[in-house]
Parts: sequence; structure tokens; C-alpha cells
Amino acid sequence: MSRSEPEPWRIKMVEPIRMTTRAQRQKALMEAGLNPFMLKSEEVFIDLLTDSGTGAMSDRQWAGMFLGDESYAGSRSYYQLSQTVKDLFGFQYTIPVHQGRGAEQILFPFLVELAKEKGASEPVFLSNHHFDTTKAHVEIAGARAKNLICPSSLQTDVSDDWKGNFDLNELENEIKNNQKNIVAIVITITCNSVGGQPVSMENIRLAAKMARDAGIPVIIDAARFAENAYFIKQRESSFFNETISQIVKEIFNEADIFTMSAKKDGMVNIGGLCCFRYNESWFRQVQLRCVPMEGFVTYGGLAGRDMSAMAIGLREALDEDHLRSRIAQVEYLGHKLQQAGIPIQTPVGGHAVFVDARKIFPDIKPENFPAQVLCNALYLESGVRATEIGSLMMGRNPITGQQEPSLFELMRLTIPRRTYTDNHMSYVAKSLIDVIEKADTLKPLEFEYEPLILRQFTARFREIER
Ligand SMILES: Cc1ncc(COP(=O)(O)O)c(C=O)c1O
Repeated sequence: MSRSEPEPWRIKMVEPIRMTTRAQRQKALMEAGLNPFMLKSEEVFIDLLTDSGTGAMSDRQWAGMFLGDESYAGSRSYYQLSQTVKDLFGFQYTIPVHQGRGAEQILFPFLVELAKEKGASEPVFLSNHHFDTTKAHVEIAGARAKNLICPSSLQTDVSDDWKGNFDLNELENEIKNNQKNIVAIVITITCNSVGGQPVSMENIRLAAKMARDAGIPVIIDAARFAENAYFIKQRESSFFNETISQIVKEIFNEADIFTMSAKKDGMVNIGGLCCFRYNESWFRQVQLRCVPMEGFVTYGGLAGRDMSAMAIGLREALDEDHLRSRIAQVEYLGHKLQQAGIPIQTPVGGHAVFVDARKIFPDIKPENFPAQVLCNALYLESGVRATEIGSLMMGRNPITGQQEPSLFELMRLTIPRRTYTDNHMSYVAKSLIDVIEKADTLKPLEFEYEPLILRQFTARFREIER
């Protein structure tokens, strides 16, 4: 797809990036243990590792930084942020946190205790799909994380508008058979783990109603709330004429609590939120956990200036011109790859293009990490850094020590907001097309060093023969 509209911004400040030679990249990748996470950013030309905290802030956000109030307690910036949360989401109570996982670590233990008081003996969270740190914090809190994603999301070549949806039959069964153990449902919008895929309003409403009727708290994992709202406006006919802001309000009307990594649609480099719609008692109890874990209740690990920038970023995220341009750029890259016959998760999601490495290397076993092989080859070819979403990230079962089966073997090309141009995307596409032409020559990987947890970040690999 060629883009129909130019970006709704112009560039006021530039940051040089440097192209390296293949020999330099070869050396850098060897030193990084064949793990792009371990590269220095200066060794990377175009960085598509993540869209988390890597986007560009606007001139208004930078201006807001200068007006930030750095008071330890009662900062004006906190009140600006909590007013923004009330205005945009209709939530009364706001706890700022340093990032999304900060919200998870103060909220989940409280909810697990609450469920146990009501009789849960084997507490479980249900989600369309838990993000990996979300799952980690569920487990740290002594509960299980169960994913109930709709089956179409697993078939990357099948196009379905709502691949982020809950499988509602599964949800109904879980509630019927295991109600007392369910701590909460977590609706992840958009659903990062299956390809940045949106959840429909209909699905959000039905899932939330089932939970509500059973007295189960509803949490929204809201990292990419605005992108999800944009997809609802584009794809769900009853919302064609609503504004993004109206749709966001309707989504959040369905929830009791939301956690947010504001490093995505909040458009800041650091920050997060843990918010409660009405329940003051829950808010007060989680606030207590905030103090020792994140910081005093009106800063939660953030500088005042970070909270001001977040308050402004959250409003900017709702701008439809921004969202149209953002999603169009992701589509632009996705369609270039599709035109070249490269298998990707379809339709293209909100923040990234997910390349199906299982289809590219059908003979490379999950434990030899086909998507990581692809990430390394792309970096060597072009200096573009991507990330693995597959068996490497999935890790081992902590009890059996066996590799956990992964739904996918994907390479994620994650596009930071307002950061790269379509020329950069054309270069990424061309580089990947060149890599895939040589796919037969690429070698599987095995561990040289395997960390015990979150191994994708610091593991080291060696190549083996195919
Ligand atoms: C859906 C989702 N939830 C939670 C998180 C965790 O947020 P953070 O990285 O800010 O801790 C992420 C991060 O990528 C995410 O994508």
C-alpha cells in the first residue's frame, strides 16, 4: 500500500543514526553473543526492537516537561495527570507508576489476597493474552495466568479483524467451572502477544459482562488503548461515526481497574498508571503498596516532569490524524513484505509487523529459535534490530524445566511512534526481502549461556549445522 496522506507533523530536531559495515556488524553481533538485545544502540541503524518508550515526544510534551512540579508530595503534575485520567477514561483514582510492570507489581498481590479471602485456593487470572511481564507478575503473586485467545489468531495467514478477541466460549466455561478461583480478567488492548491485534468493542463488552455477572473484577491492560480504539472506529460499523475519545470512554466504562504502560500510547519515554474507576477501598489499599515499591503516592517513581509529559501525551494519543498516520506506517511496511510473499501475521496489527519465522524455516526446531535466526540475519544484512516473540521468550516451565510450547515463532518489527519515516520502512522491507532469499543458508542456534529467567534479554548463542 502506498500511503495516502503525509505525516501530521514536521521534524524540529534530528538525532543522527549511523550505518555500519557488514564487518562491523558481524563483530558486534559476535560480541553480543548472537543476541540483538545485547547490542549497543550505536551499533544499530534502525531500531525496531520495541515501541516502548522509544517514540518521539511532541513540542507540547517537551514544553510540559519544563512546567513539571518536582514536589515530593502533592505535585501539581500529579493533579494534572489524575484530571486527565478522569477526563479521558472516567476513572476517579490514579496511582502513577514508573512503567506498566510497576502497576502489575503493586496491584496483583492485593487482588490475589482478595480472591483468597473469598475462598480461592488455586488463584488464576484469565486474559485474552497476558503480556510476558504481566504473566510474570501474576506468577510472582502466587497465581496462574491463563490465556483464552480466539483460535483465528494462531493462523497467521487467516485474516480476521479481531484476532485479539477473547474466546468467549472458553471464558464462559472457565467461569462456570472455576469461578471461585478467578482473581480477575485482564483484557489486553491491543493484544501484543498475538501481533498487536485489536479486541472488538462487542468482545470487550461481552467478556466484561460475564465477569461482572460473576463478581469478578475486570482489568484493562491499556498500553495501546488508542490504537485499539482506532481499529474499533475503522472496523466496527456502529462506531464509524464516533470520535476516538468517545470510543475510549466506552471501552473503559467496562472496566473496574486499568494498568497502563504509558511508554506506548501514553507517548512518553517512561511512565505508567494503575487506576480505579470507583472502588476507593481498593485504591487506598494498592496505594499503600505503591509507597515501598514505587514511591510516594503522588509520584510513583516518576519525576513531576514525566507526569506532565504523560498527561499531554495521553491526550495527543487520541488525535485521529496521529493514529491514522501511525497505523498507515505499520501497514505500509506490512504490505511491502506481503507483496514480496513474506509470511506475516495478517491483518497487520497496531504497533508492529510480525513475521512468521516458522513458515520461513519449517525445518528449524523451536528449541533452535527460528525467529532469533531471522533477527540476527536481518541485523547482519542491514543494521536493523528486531526482536523474537517465540520459544526463546516463552522460556521453560519452572517446575518441569521443559521448554514451554510457544504459539508462534515470530520476528517482531516494532515501529516507535513519530520516529522513523517511510523511507526507513522501505529500507527495512528491502533488507528483509534480501535476507529471505538466502534463508536456506542460515544456521539454527543453540544456547552458549542460558539465564534462568527472562532468558531472551541476556542469553548467548552459538550457531549449529542445519
Ligand atoms: C500489553 C503490555 N502490557 C504490559 C507491558 C509492560 O509495560 P512496561 O514495559 O512499561 O513495564 C507491555 C510492554 O511492552 C505490554 O506490551
